[in-house]
Amino acid sequence: MCGIVGYAGPNDTVEALLNGLRRLEYRGYDSAGVAVIDDTGGVSVRKKSGKLVNLEDLLKASPLEAAGTGIGHTRWATHGGPTDVNAHPHLGDDGRLAVIHNGIVENFAELRDEVTSRGAELLSETDTEVVAVLLGLETASGKDLETAFREVVQRLHGTFTLLAMHQSEPGKIVAARHHSPLVVGLGEGENFLGFDVAAFVSSTRRAVVVNEDNIAIITPDSVRITDFTGAEVDFEEYEVEWDAGAADKGGWSSFMAKEINEQPEAIANTIRGRIVDGHVEIPELTALGEDRLKEIDRIIIVACGTASYAGMVGSYAIEQWARIPVEVQLSHEFRYRDPVLTDRTMVISVSQSGETMDTLMAVKYAIERGVTTVSVCNTQSATIPRESDAAVYTHAGPEVAVASTKAFVAQITALYLLGLHLGRVRGTLSAEDEAAAVEQFETLPEKMAEAVATHEQIAQLAHWMADTRSVLFLGRHVGYPAALEGALKLKEIAYIHAEGFAAGELKHGPIALIDHGQPVFVLVPSPRTSPLMHSKVVSNIQEIRARGARVIAIVEKGDTAVLPFADDVVRIPLTDALFDPILQVVPLQWFALELSTAKGLDVDQPRNLAKSVTVE
Ligand code: M6R
Repeated sequence: MCGIVGYAGPNDTVEALLNGLRRLEYRGYDSAGVAVIDDTGGVSVRKKSGKLVNLEDLLKASPLEAAGTGIGHTRWATHGGPTDVNAHPHLGDDGRLAVIHNGIVENFAELRDEVTSRGAELLSETDTEVVAVLLGLETASGKDLETAFREVVQRLHGTFTLLAMHQSEPGKIVAARHHSPLVVGLGEGENFLGFDVAAFVSSTRRAVVVNEDNIAIITPDSVRITDFTGAEVDFEEYEVEWDAGAADKGGWSSFMAKEINEQPEAIANTIRGRIVDGHVEIPELTALGEDRLKEIDRIIIVACGTASYAGMVGSYAIEQWARIPVEVQLSHEFRYRDPVLTDRTMVISVSQSGETMDTLMAVKYAIERGVTTVSVCNTQSATIPRESDAAVYTHAGPEVAVASTKAFVAQITALYLLGLHLGRVRGTLSAEDEAAAVEQFETLPEKMAEAVATHEQIAQLAHWMADTRSVLFLGRHVGYPAALEGALKLKEIAYIHAEGFAAGELKHGPIALIDHGQPVFVLVPSPRTSPLMHSKVVSNIQEIRARGARVIAIVEKGDTAVLPFADDVVRIPLTDALFDPILQVVPLQWFALELSTAKGLDVDQPRNLAKSVTVE
């Protein structure tokens, strides 16, 4: 969703803003704009619908001479279409102040009526312009920017990261957050604001997270943080782990291709330091206290999209090792069902960004009801891990492509480690199961590298299937959520109709979809470690083949049982059945990427989608 950047300092302001916006492009957007205090001391704006390149062209045609303070925005449309007029920044106080905003102002209709009744004219359809105009009415009445800003943010309902600057106080930017993130970047004689650290990581790795309902006030030489009443708040800086290079394509054709290739390293990073003397130990869980972990009698995993599929895969392993009933709920459904929660429930949220609003709201709901909350997250110091009782970071490195890949396998890995930790502490994990799982973890990065090497074979397959209009994916047990994930990837980036099914469900309806030539990917479980499920899936393959399906089987090396019934066979390394989906999903990721590329689509930034969904 929206990207937000603020810059106060002596360097090229427009370039600092564009650089930040480029690094936030991954968030997804449909228009972009910047506002600066210009060399005449006034506020100047350039904004344009479409991609950042349109704004860059506009800036070439009509350059801005900035005097050192500016704000920049990429907008994902909510109120009003993605037009030039609706793009941010929006102006108030007769063009003397500029505002950018992420989120939704829920009481905007009421505020719009108020500002129009006070004589203001609105140019756009956005909630943000109403805020800019309201703020302008306050500054025009003689209040300084900080006072006016504090008064206005206290009147807003909904969610916001809001930045404002006024020409009467050049060099200063004020920024507030409410259920939407905000980070300050600390430079030498320059300071930054960003929706996340990507906005400034190429200039500084010193950052400060602005807490909920706080306001940051930056100038080139100072940073202050207050609450909404104006009381000063102490803050701590931290060192950003991700370096700027990690968020570059680094020679790959797309971020997604780069991130698929990074999966062996991502998994190794998730495991690193968490296996000690043959035991899985997650210090963040240890800190919760053994008694608390022993008392847990139910786990609910909350997540959205790909993260929810990782949660589904993880639920099988946690239940098996820790013998606790685990269910997975979509974050946006969770609180509306009035879930039964007790002080013995644990809610585990899974989120790459740690900022997904639906998941954040589910976690807050759980916290209010006194349950133990654990966050499995990839993004350091994001809101969800900070709000939760414990944070288990996946350490997969920045994921930029909208389609999640390395975060998915790292999330499953983290959930498995969590299941093993719980099983050990609760005494439900046998020594043999623990040793077997640890052995799997030790070889997993290597096996992942082999799975990544299926690329060439999949590229050929995709080439032959470039005109495919619909693809089905089948899996059983942990293969079922992996099938759902394969289907989601194809929908997201290749815009091809795709469905994932539990293989056993086929005869209960979906088999009617099978027609001559219908492509079906089948995730075949390991015959060595899961012979019963394997034989069932082979039967399912025969059933669909008999009805004309074109079968592409993802099988373990050495599995010959499917050969007579499959049109194509993709081989992945030998592993235990529970670990299958971590490897089986990789050819499915490549398939989606290749079909997207063949159709000439934007692999990294598919239409209508944002990397992290920060509105409900
Ligand atoms: O940042 P999160 O993991 O919370 O995001 C959740 C989903 O929005 C995300 O996984 C989405 O489904 C991906 N784009 C899928 O590739």
